[in-house]
Amino acid sequence: ARRNKIAVVGAGNIGGNIGLLCAERRLGDVVLYDIERVAGPTKGKALDINQLNAVRGLDTRLVGTSDFADAEGADVVIVTAGVPRKPGMSRDDLVGVNMPIISDVAEKVKKHTPNAFVIVISNPLDAMVYAMHKVAGLADHMVCGMAGVLDSSRFRFFVSEALDVSIEDVHAVVLGGHGDDMVPLTRLCSVGGVPLESLLPKDKLDAIVDRTRKGGGELVQLFGTGSAYFAPAESAVSMAESYLLDRKRVLPVAARLHGEYGIDGYFFGVPARIGGGGVEKVYEIALDPAEKVMLDKSFHAVKAVVESCKL
Ligand code: APR
Repeated sequence: ARRNKIAVVGAGNIGGNIGLLCAERRLGDVVLYDIERVAGPTKGKALDINQLNAVRGLDTRLVGTSDFADAEGADVVIVTAGVPRKPGMSRDDLVGVNMPIISDVAEKVKKHTPNAFVIVISNPLDAMVYAMHKVAGLADHMVCGMAGVLDSSRFRFFVSEALDVSIEDVHAVVLGGHGDDMVPLTRLCSVGGVPLESLLPKDKLDAIVDRTRKGGGELVQLFGTGSAYFAPAESAVSMAESYLLDRKRVLPVAARLHGEYGIDGYFFGVPARIGGGGVEKVYEIALDPAEKVMLDKSFHAVKAVVESCKL
């Protein structure tokens, strides 16, 4: 037996926290990779977390590097490379700056870690995961994007706050692209088996849906200099864990679709089973007409960004 190996690409705010959370969960050894210009801070984060591990008695080791060859043999690669939003920007505004970064990372993944399960976090998410799959030439089931776990967790948090109930009992799914047109499904949200729509009036539900859709932007405004990182890191690590431990959790992820929801060849947020086989299965939800309209709108937004990349 050997320990799992997790490579984190981009050792910034999200990347550093992923390293910490992987160590904390004893998920495996971690390679934090970033560009040469930030080699010092990258090595520093790895060293600092190793010393935290000493306090906690955790055996997992972190290495900071600016040589992607150190990622060879990784079971999972989590990609956070890129620039975060500034106040007033949409995720789509990042496409021009983050697209070349993802292409660079994808070439390296192709060369050094072609068999890893790849989880993309960089924005605009649905286009960046599309680019990663295409440029790295990955199998469809071995690459996905992190968005739905985060968006549905934001939705669940707002519901638990509004009803003053445990977050553990709030179940919800958010479908679609990781943008302001995402589709939080209030009809399918349940609180310990009780339908959410029977617990809150429509105006309160609408406010929660709206706050969820703009949930990333709310944090960008509050931070002033960057975007959310604690919850995004935890969301990606929960996906990595489901793969590494073959947990077969059913999580909303950006998966490559083959006709499901009427979409073919694009990555889009849908419920999927994540296990040792990667994205093992995509689940289709029977949508009502209004939900279908919202999902189509979200897909058109995603498609426009992907097409602007001319991949
Ligand atoms: N290869 C590897 N790392 C890179 C590259 C590259 N070609 N280009 C940039 N990076 C690194 C930066 O050096 C930086 O350390 O990516 C890191 C990004 O970290 P932060 O700026 O702290 O951004 P973060 O908040 O972690 O968000 C990263 O995730 O949620 C998205 O929109 C967000 O696209 C952004 C990404």
